[in-house]
Amino acid sequence: KADLRATLLEINKIAAQYFYVQLKSEQGKIGYTYLKNRELSDETIKAFGLGYSNKYSNDLFKYLQGKGYSEDLIRQAGLINTDERNGVYDKFWNRVMFPIMDVNNRVIGFGGRVMGDGKPKYLNSPETVIFDKSRNLYGLNRARTSRKPYFLMCEGYMDVISLHQAGFTNAVASLGTALTTGHASLIKRYVQEVYLTYDSDEAGTKAALRAVPILKQAGISAKVIRMDPYKDPDEFIKNLGAEEFEKRIGGARNGFLFSLEILSKDYDMESPEGKTAFFKETVKRLIGFEDELERNNYVEAVAKAYKVSPESLQKLVTKTAVTEG
Ligand code: GTP
Ligand code: MN
Ligand code: MN
Ligand code: MN
Ligand code: MN
Repeated sequence: KADLRATLLEINKIAAQYFYVQLKSEQGKIGYTYLKNRELSDETIKAFGLGYSNKYSNDLFKYLQGKGYSEDLIRQAGLINTDERNGVYDKFWNRVMFPIMDVNNRVIGFGGRVMGDGKPKYLNSPETVIFDKSRNLYGLNRARTSRKPYFLMCEGYMDVISLHQAGFTNAVASLGTALTTGHASLIKRYVQEVYLTYDSDEAGTKAALRAVPILKQAGISAKVIRMDPYKDPDEFIKNLGAEEFEKRIGGARNGFLFSLEILSKDYDMESPEGKTAFFKETVKRLIGFEDELERNNYVEAVAKAYKVSPESLQKLVTKTAVTEG
């Protein structure tokens, strides 16, 4: 079992080197140009080990077989597929390649991006014996040595890479999945605070709302940074630069208060009924804070933000806590 893991890691490493060499070759020019157009430097390309999977349908498969690995092992590494029409073929084909590394810089899988508008936009390695998406974070191998006491948690490979290139070496991303408790406990080994830097669209907002309580549960405090008017951190940095991004970090919002702000959009806050209903829901959430001091601090913050008297909000919280608890 330990042997199998070691062998799969070896295969992935060789594949990553293969993709990297391809990117620098004549036929890889299309991939290299793509990355250059996305404003990545050679240094960044090297640091993240970016590569290119070329247009031949099974050259990686043959290359790995030539190195002595069996078809079965290469399949277990997630690098090939088989179907009746094509036989055995490389999973990644004509894409720029993002090797995914674990904290110890071992390649555990890949993401591959089409260079145009094809679908799927990103193809990712399947989960394998060595690749558990819910227990690894893209960029963690580098972010772990950043001196910042928090991580910037974003959605995509390109967000992480752009942020690192701009000097924010504490950026990580969950691998095309929602943040899990597995991610949270992994994060907890390194930092106690996370700034959620998800995309500006509805999916990104929802992902942030879901991530806040998961982090909280693990004892990690969550803040939220918004990227508007841009789509995501990558585009934000490209358009406004690192200094403006730093300002957004400075203006990050408390995760719980951000959640309430989004919640308030479901209520007519101009009407007494709407506002009352909003506060009833808010109180339900406030009583979720088990630590009394923390709960009181949140009661005060909410009262201030939504202009009600802290005493009456406190009373409602106490009353609800008694009847519900
Ligand atoms: P760019 O367009 O290259 O800037 O990518 P992006 O990261 O901005 O893409 P998006 O916000 O759409 O997606 C965020 C992350 O979700 C990506 O980095 C991938 O990890 C994952 N993802 C995006 N599209 C797909 C897809 O088609 N399939 C899968 N499996 N994952 C995807
Ligand atoms: Mn190929
Ligand atoms: Mn997105
Ligand atoms: Mn995005
Ligand atoms: Mn993007």
